[in-house]
Amino acid sequence: MKSRWHGRNQLAQNLLAYAGPLTRDQHELYREIVENARLAVGVHWVQLTQYVPDTGDVRQLAISGFHLPRMRRAARAFSRLMGGMQLLDVTANVSENAFVHGLYAEGLEIEGRERDVTGQRVPRVVVNLAESVGMRWMMGFPLKAGGQVRGSLNFHSAKPLTSRQRIVARAMTRQVELLFENAELSQDLAQSVQDLRAAQTQLMLEEDRIKSELAMELHGRVQTRLLILWRRLNRVIASMDPDDPQRGPLEAIAENLDQIRDVDVRGVSHRLAPPILAAGLYPSLLFLGSLYYPEMDVTVTTDPILDPREYPDLPPEVRFPLYRIVEEALANAYHHGHAKHAGVHWAFSADHLTLTVRDDGAGMSAEAAGEGLGLVGMRTRAQYLGGTFAIQPMREGGCEVSVSLPGLDAWKEMESGD
Ligand SMILES: Nc1ncnc2c1ncn2[C@@H]1O[C@H](COP(=O)(O)OP(=O)(O)OP(=O)(O)O)[C@@H](O)[C@H]1O
Ligand SMILES: [Mg+2]
Repeated sequence: MKSRWHGRNQLAQNLLAYAGPLTRDQHELYREIVENARLAVGVHWVQLTQYVPDTGDVRQLAISGFHLPRMRRAARAFSRLMGGMQLLDVTANVSENAFVHGLYAEGLEIEGRERDVTGQRVPRVVVNLAESVGMRWMMGFPLKAGGQVRGSLNFHSAKPLTSRQRIVARAMTRQVELLFENAELSQDLAQSVQDLRAAQTQLMLEEDRIKSELAMELHGRVQTRLLILWRRLNRVIASMDPDDPQRGPLEAIAENLDQIRDVDVRGVSHRLAPPILAAGLYPSLLFLGSLYYPEMDVTVTTDPILDPREYPDLPPEVRFPLYRIVEEALANAYHHGHAKHAGVHWAFSADHLTLTVRDDGAGMSAEAAGEGLGLVGMRTRAQYLGGTFAIQPMREGGCEVSVSLPGLDAWKEMESGD
């Protein structure tokens, strides 16, 4: 049912956008609208029109009752009288007469005799023809969406509509309006979601970039300078008299300095982006898994089985997001699943690449199905790489995260294309 409504929204959007020739599906939807309205109100003929405010043009989208023999005859007679023109080809302009202007430009319900509404522009014989098939009277209802008139639903009958018929006609009109409003809302919503996704992707990739720059800066420049300072200090200490009372405190400072370099600076830089990433994805995954030992045992396997020195290389732009995905998947397995084991599996070929992270933890509960930044980040990175992302509980317990991407050939091309 959902997809049917989605389809309807698409069609209604086309109506709002004043598309060119109608597609088969549009024909069907519009015919359904007019046919339902005709049956509900109980008149001979209902007409659905579309209005373009910029030009003031009105065109017919559908007319009901074509299957009725007398309407078919009337339509054929119309075509004969108008030199081959079909009923649906008839267009009008709101400047034509007060009735039409009131309906479309002012958004008013209009009511009048067919010959008054159609004005001078429709040949007398055609008006006579309409009247001969019982269309003497016309009542038009504006179709509004987003505060603007987008078209109208016009009811043609032998006599003025009764008050009951008017109520039903208004209700039908409102239903069509809701269809259009719905279409417009879902269009806006889809656009906002798209904008948000794009912004999120940008933000995430920028974060990746800054992190790796920071890591390089800390790892390279800051760590090296601290190392130089530490060596100089050690040289000063070595040149000091062994009994110098300053020697002890200076040694303590040197020790401290080395700790800051090794634990703080190096540790932070590694967490931002491990230097091993420069060596390739496979060793990075081994490194990532080792961080959880012994609380969680992580195995890294590949298909085909690899000699650790002969893994295929991926460009850094691909390696880094994939690393982040596995990092998040393992973090979730550890934090949320309290897993004891996790398996990272990397399968690759020339045209396909998959990364799977399975854990033996608690699995995802239905109420935890909401996405935090972690899942959004994984999905965004996978999509950015032109792939797909999925997370699901496994039957035997635990969770499975899988990312599927284009294969090695695509990335090779990317490298040579740069
Ligand atoms: N491997 C897993 N095992 C069990 N639950 C999981 C697992 N992975 C994800 N979840 C569930 O999915 C939710 C969303 O995960 P997500 O990583 O998006 O957010 P988070 O980890 O809660 O927060 P953060 O934004 O810091 O990552 C988690 O809160 C958790 O309930
Ligand atoms: Mg998380």
